Amino acid sequence: MFKPRVYVTRQIFPDALDLIEKSAELELWPDDEPPSPEQLKEALSEMDGALINVMDRIDGPLLDAAPKLRVLSQVAVGLDNIDLAEATRREIMVGFTPGVLAKSTADLAFALLLATARRVVESDKWVREGNWKISHHPMFWLGSEVNGSTLGILGMGGIGLETAKRGLGFDMKVMYHSRTRKPELEAEYGFKYASMNQVLAKSDFVSIHVPLTPETHKFIGEKQLKKMKPTAILVNLSRGAVIDTGALYKALNEGWIAGAGLDVFDPEPVPPDHPILALNNVVILPHIGSASNRSRREMHLLAARNLVAGLNGERMEQIANPEVYKSLGM
Ligand code: NAP
Ligand code: GLV
Repeated sequence: MFKPRVYVTRQIFPDALDLIEKSAELELWPDDEPPSPEQLKEALSEMDGALINVMDRIDGPLLDAAPKLRVLSQVAVGLDNIDLAEATRREIMVGFTPGVLAKSTADLAFALLLATARRVVESDKWVREGNWKISHHPMFWLGSEVNGSTLGILGMGGIGLETAKRGLGFDMKVMYHSRTRKPELEAEYGFKYASMNQVLAKSDFVSIHVPLTPETHKFIGEKQLKKMKPTAILVNLSRGAVIDTGALYKALNEGWIAGAGLDVFDPEPVPPDHPILALNNVVILPHIGSASNRSRREMHLLAARNLVAGLNGERMEQIANPEVYKSLGM
């Protein structure tokens, strides 16, 4: 029986692989390091489908080199690594995994917010360096109070909302700016809508949850950072390029803001000699927002189901370019 060929660009949960193998001939990238652009191009050249990751760049030249490709299934909600217009033009269905990762990513937003505010990483290092004996000094390790402060959300989508709800649990006042105002959320949770400038100027913590698009590229630069309170902390779990990295470094180094908690960086990975790594007022994680066992397994299974549905000529559970259905007559 004919089975389509699919490429899976990173190890995933075994039950997700099993699901794919029932419908397709599967090849798996064997390494932990992602394939280079050339390796990815070569790997996809004869494939009907692929299960891909945020580090895999899918552009026009790669798609030209993969003429059989009908289905792409992204194990993520962000789609900035994919030229969606080029995929759609070629009638390639692109699946993705919104929703199943919103709560775990919001948990990590809060982990970063708290870690940065209360200097968790810095003081842990201090303990490991054998300094505990003087840490009870009444003026040491003072951080920012989280409870009762104001949380500003930029991008009130799935993850923004979950992060805002966690803020309510800490008695925070929540203000937000998003492309579309959400009166139903304002009524249900008491969130206050404001302009981006007001959110920046009034919040003690600003947490970014917009997707990376041409409009949000360097959304936060010098001008925006200078609008923030000098005591404020910036948290980013969207994409690194939403912030102008050079401006952020200056802001942290020169004290325009108090700190930053970053799960994403521009560029990724952060170069080991980047000057930001020498600053104590920043906590940097290696893009692990959705990395809980439960979320990752649900993402892998959803991505596998999207892939199989697309290969079978059926509608996906979550598709990023539903307009292809029309051109495919589905
Ligand atoms: P989502 O539900 O689509 O929410 C994104 C929100 O941003 C929407 O509410 C959207 O518009 C708003 N928005 C879009 N463009 C905007 C603009 N120019 N100005 C203001 N608001 C704008 O997506 P999500 O699931 O919350 O994920 C958000 C992003 O987080 C993803 O795209 C991805 O890059 C990132 N992410 C990172 C991790 C990680 O591991 N760090 C994990 C998951 C996702 P409306 O106001 O019109 O609704
Ligand atoms: C992760 O970064 C995602 O977009 O899901």
